[in-house]
Order: sequence, then structure tokens, then C-alpha cells
Amino acid sequence: MSHKILEGKRGIIFGALDDQSIAWKTAESVHLAGGKFVLTNAPVAMRMGTINTLANKTNSKVIPADATSVEDLNSLIDQAQDILGGKLDFVLHSIGMSVNVRKGKHYTDLNYDWLEKGWDVSAVSFHKLMQSLYQKDAMNEWGSIIALSYIAAQRTFPNYNDMADNKAYLESIARSFGYFFGKNKKVRVNTISQSPTLTTAGKGVAGLEGFLKYAEKMSPLGNATAEDCADYIVSLFSDYTRRVTLQNLYHDGGFSGVGVSQEIIDEISKE
Ligand SMILES: NC(=O)c1ccc[n+]([C@@H]2O[C@H](COP(=O)([O-])OP(=O)(O)OC[C@H]3O[C@@H](n4cnc5c(N)ncnc54)[C@H](O)[C@@H]3O)[C@@H](O)[C@H]2O)c1
Repeated sequence: MSHKILEGKRGIIFGALDDQSIAWKTAESVHLAGGKFVLTNAPVAMRMGTINTLANKTNSKVIPADATSVEDLNSLIDQAQDILGGKLDFVLHSIGMSVNVRKGKHYTDLNYDWLEKGWDVSAVSFHKLMQSLYQKDAMNEWGSIIALSYIAAQRTFPNYNDMADNKAYLESIARSFGYFFGKNKKVRVNTISQSPTLTTAGKGVAGLEGFLKYAEKMSPLGNATAEDCADYIVSLFSDYTRRVTLQNLYHDGGFSGVGVSQEIIDEISKE
């Protein structure tokens, strides 16, 4: 899939940690589609990850920024416009982290300092990012801003912990800010609710393997991969989806529409 539907478009891609990251696959697909972008990640992640390999491959620059720091975001947005030569057409927020999940704290015994940190990184950073973009008038008309979410925002999944609440908050920010971005700047804001995917963030969720198998058996089209998600994001950055906004878009092989599948019934009936 390499139609040049993003030719002439400029943007920022947050969250490429390694070649499993959804943001990494997105950068590759956007590059193939002709888009130009700046890559960014938290300074600490730069040391752990291999983002420079991706930058070389996609002919892009890397600017470190902690997405919870308004100062970092302001500087990133200024630098990105200088490097790319004008206002932005697309931004991907592909960021998530819960300290409680990382440290194995149960949802019924949360550490609230850690909860606040995870909420800031996973949800409030999206507001901070959009506020910087909005106040700097950094987006072109008909631009597109996307963040990644998960269906635990709507339904309970026992091991998703406080990330479920962070995703619900994130989706709400997309609608609330999307209203003003639409009205006043003609810019789209959406979230994509992606299938469980084997990435560093994904692996943090206890029992992910079982989770993936369950979702695979529930989804008529099977789980959406990170590559599939990347292609979907390209379509949402393109001019073909100009009036899609304020949506939480399920990209999950149909999982969200199924009550129970025959495969799951068969599996349970064996017991
Ligand atoms: N993997 C899944 O199963 C799955 C499913 C649905 C949605 N998502 C969402 O997709 C997004 C991307 O996750 P992924 O699965 O590609 O995993 P990933 O671990 O590759 O990406 C998460 C990224 O967040 C970055 N990050 C963390 N703190 C940051 C900070 N303070 N500032 C800037 N960046 C920071 C990390 O460095 C990393 O690059 C997340 O929002 C995640 O919740 C993932």
C-alpha cells in the first residue's frame, strides 16, 4: 500500500520506541505515502530505543520532548515547523504508561502518586499537546490529530488497571478539544481504539498473550496488527477523511461489535 496520499503534508509523530511500536510502523507508512515528519519521544526513551535507525530510514529529524512538559512541547512545535518548512497537517500521539501497571499494583490498591503520573503521561499530555498546537496556530486547515486508545475505556478488562481510566479521559479530551479545533481551525481530532498488540506498552499488561488469543477468537477479521493500524492512520491523515472528527474509531477486526463468537463458545464447551 504505497499511494502517495500524504504528498506535501507535514507532521509530528510521538512514541516510536522500537520497531514493534505502533508509532514506528506509522512513521514507515506515512513515509511511504509521501508525508514528511519530525519524530519525537521522551529523552529517557531515546537512550533505550533505536529511534535514530527509524529517522535514517525515513529521512527525518528527531527532537526529544517529554510530552508532560509544556515547555518541551512548545519548543518541539516551533522546531518542527522550522525543520519542515511550515505549519503542520498531522500529529500522532502514540503515548501510554502506567506506573501502577509497571510496578504490578492492583487496581484495588493503587498508589495515587503513580496514578497521577500515568494520567499525566497517558491522557493530560494530549491536552497539553493540543493546547500548544492551538495557541501557536501551528496546524493547517483540514489537518488531522490522532491519539491511540483501547476498548478498556468502555468495558472492563481486569488487568488493564488505571490505564482504563486514562483512556476514558483521553477519549473525552479528544472530543472536548476537537470541538474547538473543528470550529475555529477546521482541524480533525479523533482517537483510534486499537486491538491488543505486542509492543513494549502492550507487554506491560499482565496476561497479554491470553488476551491476544481471546481477542483473535472474538474478532471476525482477527486482531488488527500495528501495520494495519499504521495504514488506517495514513487514511485518517489524508484528505479522504476530512470531515471525520470527535470520533473514537474502533480498529479491532470487529471485536467491539461481537457479543460472543462460536470459537469462544466451542472453547468453553470443552470444559
Ligand atoms: N499495544 C497495545 O496492545 C495497544 C492497544 C491499544 C492502544 N495502544 C496504545 O497505543 C499507544 C502506543 O503504544 P505501543 O503499543 O506502540 O507501545 P510503545 O511502548 O512502543 O509506545 C509507547 C510510547 O510512549 C512513550 N512515552 C512514555 N512516556 C512518555 C513521555 N513522558 N513523553 C513522551 N513519550 C512518552 C514511550 O517512550 C513509547 O515510545 C499507547 O497510547 C497505547 O496505550 C496500545
